[in-house]
Amino acid sequence: MLQRALTGVKPTGDPHLGNWLGAIAPALELARDYDTFYFIADYHALTSTPAGEELRRHVRSIAATYLAFGLDPKKSVFYRQSDVPEIFELSWILSCFTPKGFMNRAHAYKDAVARNLDAGKDPDDGVNMGVFGYPVLMAADILMFNADVVPVGADQKQHVEFARDIAERFNLHYGASKASATENAPLFHLPEARISSAVKTVVGLDGRKMSKSYDNTLPLFLDEKPLLKRVNQIVTNSQSPEEPKDPNQSHVFQLHQLLLNPGEEGELRKRYLAGGMGWGAAKKLFFETLNERLRGPRGEYNRLLADSAYLDSVLHEGKLRARSLAAPFLETIRKTIGIQ
Ligand code: ADP
Ligand code: TRP
Repeated sequence: MLQRALTGVKPTGDPHLGNWLGAIAPALELARDYDTFYFIADYHALTSTPAGEELRRHVRSIAATYLAFGLDPKKSVFYRQSDVPEIFELSWILSCFTPKGFMNRAHAYKDAVARNLDAGKDPDDGVNMGVFGYPVLMAADILMFNADVVPVGADQKQHVEFARDIAERFNLHYGASKASATENAPLFHLPEARISSAVKTVVGLDGRKMSKSYDNTLPLFLDEKPLLKRVNQIVTNSQSPEEPKDPNQSHVFQLHQLLLNPGEEGELRKRYLAGGMGWGAAKKLFFETLNERLRGPRGEYNRLLADSAYLDSVLHEGKLRARSLAAPFLETIRKTIGIQ
């Protein structure tokens, strides 16, 4: 039987080149070798309490993005977290197997506390219980479908480890229970994080990590003109067109090579080193490659966003498929814990 891979995406903003190369593309590749589950973690996005209209828009944008980049909703299960109420019941159950100390040690929470202390504020200032319990809901996302592999960015590794620890504690507690031992197998699989190592961090326009928080991104679905404008904002040095340029020191090259095969990368490297190519020309070359790669997905994305009936039907189908697995499994879990 195929192993199961599952990953969630928080709908928090317009997706950018770093999201595509660092998260979307590697996650979608897994559909070749795994039984794949992709979902939109809308209730996780609520921890930052966005405006209702904004959350609704981002959910549709993320759904259209994954479909535009090739997610096949017939092959993979693709759903919205909030459409599967079983996950939230499981989240409560798992919270009773989660030592509070785990949550105290969660990176995101610890960082928030450290920032507050630095600013002389109360340690828990601005921290809602959703932020504190975030990893438990994430464990429920993963364990509800007994995922074996969870593709995530390095920042999420600790969360997957919590899910594994929580699963182990649950399995251990009910190990002797007849109800859970129908097949003598522990109820929960122990998930493993899969950190995509092939992709380095994608640099932003200013040379820092590309991130929404730095406003240095190349959003994936800008029209050509504004996209070119963004590309022209990539920071360069003041070398004249004639001077040879060191590709390893250039943000333009670092971004461009991510879209090339090794042969093409070698050619581009030579053009930089030969001199005679100004930054304007280097940016134009990069823009052409990028635009060529994004043309298809951009068209598809715009088409999908305009066709809300189709998007709704895909998510509805995903909900039915997800719940057809989640509901019976939750029944088994309830029996195991003595709720039924
Ligand atoms: P942002 O930093 O823009 O807020 P997110 O944290 O929403 O991005 O990123 C979602 C996922 O996209 C991350 O878990 C990570 O895997 C990937 N990602 C984001 N930025 C980059 C980047 N610059 N390079 C590589 N991967 C990235
Ligand atoms: N916490 C993840 C992020 O911020 C999103 C997420 C929620 C997730 N639930 C998940 C990822 C389950 C993998 C599995 O990127």
